[in-house]
Amino acid sequence: MNAYDATRMADVLAPEGYDETTDIAQADLVVLNTCHIRERAAEKVFSELGKVRELKEERAKNGQEMKIAVAGCVAQAEGAEIIRRQKAVDLVVGPQSYHRLPEMLRTLEAGARIETDFPIEDKFDHLAPPKPEKVASRGISSFLTIQEGCDKFCTFCVVPYTRGAETSRPISKIMDEARHLVASGVRELTLLGQNVNAFHGLDENGHSVSLAALTARLAEIPGLLRLRYMTSHPNDMQDDLIEAHASQPALMPFLHLPVQSGSDRILQAMNRKHTAQQYVDLIARVRSVRPDIALSSDFIVGFPDETEEDFQATLNLIKNINFGSSYFFKYSIRPGTPGAEMEHQIPEDVKSERLRRLQELADGMRYAYNETAVGQVMPVLFEKKGRYPGQIAGKTPYLQAVQVDGPDSIIGCIADVLITETRTNSLMGSLVGEIP
Ligand code: 5AD
Ligand code: SF4
Repeated sequence: MNAYDATRMADVLAPEGYDETTDIAQADLVVLNTCHIRERAAEKVFSELGKVRELKEERAKNGQEMKIAVAGCVAQAEGAEIIRRQKAVDLVVGPQSYHRLPEMLRTLEAGARIETDFPIEDKFDHLAPPKPEKVASRGISSFLTIQEGCDKFCTFCVVPYTRGAETSRPISKIMDEARHLVASGVRELTLLGQNVNAFHGLDENGHSVSLAALTARLAEIPGLLRLRYMTSHPNDMQDDLIEAHASQPALMPFLHLPVQSGSDRILQAMNRKHTAQQYVDLIARVRSVRPDIALSSDFIVGFPDETEEDFQATLNLIKNINFGSSYFFKYSIRPGTPGAEMEHQIPEDVKSERLRRLQELADGMRYAYNETAVGQVMPVLFEKKGRYPGQIAGKTPYLQAVQVDGPDSIIGCIADVLITETRTNSLMGSLVGEIP
């Protein structure tokens, strides 16, 4: 979502005369968009700010200005601290108030400004739509935020505090944004939300619309080929969404459904409100309607009081479900969350060792999963030029990266590819059949 927010910040600043640059030394304004989810991400902000300050001083020597803004969830959670520790920062803006950036910049006087309220107005109503050329320059696959915030309060997580209460955008606003993106060349949308399957946006008649029903409406937009969504909570996986994976061709057979742990004791301490068996049963239901669906998850190792036995339960769950890909994190203490106050915090070396074992297991499983693709013909949506001249890169329905030799004209199109080989981070293949 930070990637999406960054594009929207660029959009809101474009009418003010700002354009993006790839050379930070040229920037009149640097917006550092930050993440607070783990300690390491938050700490990085201060070292990055030190580097930006040096550039600001360089420019000042030449009589040029560089304003520094800090945005995102670190700004939200530690705005005052940022201003105190780094005097070069001009302003701080939270994830729910970045539509106010133009006004803040215009009225910026000596001294820093902080804007981390959760304003009454909806930021999306104040964001200028990007120009079609801008959308096109960002590629044929786009993010679209449909839901923000979270009311789940998992005991390790800062999101409910930094992103605020769970809210869904109205259907008409989402449809307008989607139509604009597709008219500008976008062919795939990934619908975003911290808890996206809890989506319940209101339609024109004030009726609540589920994520499954929203995908049906979006799928009718001519030119939109593929839909994806993330991230979901197991307890919000409604029947109609599961059913949509069988009946809605635009909805891709890929589900990122974080489980965090395979131990019931730890799941309970995390306030996840489901057991490992309930998760296994849920996956069985999803697979019963869509046997080929690719599954992915997030896991935390070293949550307070996690024993070797709890960890083994996580390894077992991973073997049992056979995820195509997964993300693993060492538990990171986040101030203000219940987890930070828990006893029996796990030593760093134990966390590292468990992380390594998980990674090893998952790497092997991911490789085996990708190997099953070899010899298959898959519809690949091509996104951009590949790594080497003549190569074009795309994605399978299962979100695997694929490289083929082919003409630029296939970018934005779906073409059949025979998968020939697995590499570390992608599949290799060749175009077969009709080339669009
Ligand atoms: N420590 C480690 N990982 C975390 N995540 C969220 N909070 C923490 C934390 N305090 C992970 C979860 C979540 C993903 C986005 O980040 O696995 O699903
Ligand atoms: Fe954080 Fe996700 Fe739990 Fe919400 S459901 S508190 S975003 S981990």
